[in-house]
Amino acid sequence: MDWRSLAALLLFPVRMVYYVLKAAARLAVPARPKELGEQTVLITGGGRGIGKQLAREFARQGAKKIILWGRTEKCLKETMEEIKQTGTECHYFLCDVGNREEVYQQAKAVREKVGDVTILVNNAAVVHGKSLMESDDDALLKSQHINTLGQFWTTKAFLPRMLELQNGHIVCLNSVLALSAIPGVIDYCTSKASSFAFMESLTLGLLDCPGVQATTVLPFHTSTEMFQGMRVRFPNLFPPLKPETVAQKTVEAVRLNQALLLLPWTMHALVILKSVLPQSALEEIHKFTGSYTCMNTFKGRT
Ligand SMILES: NC(=O)c1ccc[n+]([C@@H]2O[C@H](COP(=O)([O-])OP(=O)(O)OC[C@H]3O[C@@H](n4cnc5c(N)ncnc54)[C@H](OP(=O)(O)O)[C@@H]3O)[C@@H](O)[C@H]2O)c1
Repeated sequence: MDWRSLAALLLFPVRMVYYVLKAAARLAVPARPKELGEQTVLITGGGRGIGKQLAREFARQGAKKIILWGRTEKCLKETMEEIKQTGTECHYFLCDVGNREEVYQQAKAVREKVGDVTILVNNAAVVHGKSLMESDDDALLKSQHINTLGQFWTTKAFLPRMLELQNGHIVCLNSVLALSAIPGVIDYCTSKASSFAFMESLTLGLLDCPGVQATTVLPFHTSTEMFQGMRVRFPNLFPPLKPETVAQKTVEAVRLNQALLLLPWTMHALVILKSVLPQSALEEIHKFTGSYTCMNTFKGRT
């Protein structure tokens, strides 16, 4: 072993302790959040649900411009009008993120009409909400095209300019179901797990890219129309998150360049339990909490 490798080996545990202590110190004395005053934020699925709350929250916390993407003009327009009334510049574009050509075309239109996007929020998603054998093949493909591949196309469209400017942030609204799947929603869990790996790889790939960061948000069940009808066994013990809370915590995480955000924070216990408990005990947790059967009453968007 040469002396450089030996030095790196000896320094490694010291560096690890340093970063753990630094992170612990950050809990007591949080870093200064970055300003949003010069940032242009594009939110996919920004017309309703969590996306709409994100538009409100980015505007409230001072973003310069907000761009909304989605497929339903009515809600995009309503959200745009509301944001404009707060004094923040806002635009909307019709774009199906599952359609690669449309994404590239609308990304070009955004650059020409509004300018460079510096924060991209990949929020758009759909849920089919059935088991594998009950699912129509086209519906299974659709979830993967929108929830996973859509993020490939939007990121490919906007990241190169962020790297040139040395100013950018890719944000992904994922789900705890990426880490702990449940039955009856196989399309969604698969697409979210795939999107989680996409973001993990992207985040590490950006380590040597100054000024460009990534944030992955994994919320628990949130009270929007997406999972309408879904029932957990103890709703008082595991209440759904409010979309306002998810949006507020997400914008704060972006401003602090936080790579990963689990909501609520108690979801960290899930990750630990999954890695230490035997499968039979995990199955018991699913049965006890009702997550095993919660999709039986799922209606989704009617
Ligand atoms: N609700 C929850 O319990 C929950 C929990 C954890 C994570 N999340 C995640 O949070 C994000 C937002 O969910 P939500 O609860 O706000 O859902 P939602 O109310 O159903 O909203 C989904 C948004 O995505 C847009 N969208 C869907 N397909 C699209 C496409 N092909 N192209 C462009 N936009 C598309 C929809 O607009 P159009 O239909 O008009 O296009 C809508 O604005 C999703 O990524 C979801 O997976 C949700």
